[in-house]
Amino acid sequence: MWAACGSPPKSIAPSGPPIWEELAQARPVGESSGSSAHGRAAYEAHCAACHGIRGDGGGPAAQFLATPPRDFTRGVFRFRTTVGEGMPQDEDLFRSVTAGFSAYGMPSFAYLPAGERWALVDYVKTFYPKWDAFGVGETLAIGAEPPRLPGWEERGRRLYETKFDCKKCHGLTGHGDGPSAKDLKDEHGRRIRPRDYSLGPVFRKSGWRPRDTVRVMATGLPGTPMTGYFEQLNDPNDLTEFWEAAWYVERLDQSTRR
Ligand code: HEC
Ligand code: HEC
Repeated sequence: MWAACGSPPKSIAPSGPPIWEELAQARPVGESSGSSAHGRAAYEAHCAACHGIRGDGGGPAAQFLATPPRDFTRGVFRFRTTVGEGMPQDEDLFRSVTAGFSAYGMPSFAYLPAGERWALVDYVKTFYPKWDAFGVGETLAIGAEPPRLPGWEERGRRLYETKFDCKKCHGLTGHGDGPSAKDLKDEHGRRIRPRDYSLGPVFRKSGWRPRDTVRVMATGLPGTPMTGYFEQLNDPNDLTEFWEAAWYVERLDQSTRR
């Protein structure tokens, strides 16, 4: 399959799920991402079937998908490297287009040339006219993974079960079956399930490594009931608590995978 479309970037080779952070490529220098006519044509060819010609998530395929395609007119994006208010970075949208959410219906568009993916990113932004007025949110700096100090398992468990109370949604064993799981709704009032970690990497939407779990804890997932946990850190400049909880999640994933 790859032979037909040139060699794929290493990170999306079919041998394993992509490394989320590595998916963003620098915007080609000196090359604008193309006219908006280019972005529009690409969008109508590749995206409108699900996201709708008007970007409202109402494309003809939408009704058949268990996971609704994003409504771009609301300007709510889930997977990002920014915290708090403000819009995601262009690179974040680029990652979503590149990786797709295959387990949920949206294929990877890595087969499109990078320039076309950038044109798509720019076109998607036009569905939310307030984008520039809101501006891009504050960039999250995760830094290097710290060493695992003795006792992290126990501290990670306590963070997951008690301090952050991840278990109320994701469940004690990480199967997505906590006491609140049944009642969760997305931004449209539709049911949404907390992730069952045992489903493994393919069912993660924005990476599966501890690093990705740290990012999700920091940013929260806008449009879902999962908020960010920054305010709950002992020290906002020290993400060790996030890492310890994330390592614990990784352990649950491995110990509970069916
Ligand atoms: C077959 C249906 C389908 C097609 C085609 C499709 N998408 Fe999606 N898209 C989805 C679904 C479903 C989601 C919701 C994923 C989720 O959160 O589970 C989504 C989510 C997204 C998101 C949201 C990411 C976030 O951070 O919230 C972006 C951006 C996106 N799609 C862009 C595109 C672009 C650009 C195209 C065309 C190149 C495209 N999609 C084509 C179904 C589709
Ligand atoms: C109020 C319920 C709730 C709580 C509390 C909660 N989550 Fe979530 N979480 C969700 C939902 C719902 C999703 C699924 C979002 C989606 O499918 O787009 C999710 C998804 C995730 C994902 C998957 C992200 C991806 O890219 O696929 C991770 C990792 C995660 N949560 C970790 C945590 C951790 C760690 C905690 C505790 C610090 C936590 N969650 C607390 C509801 C919650």
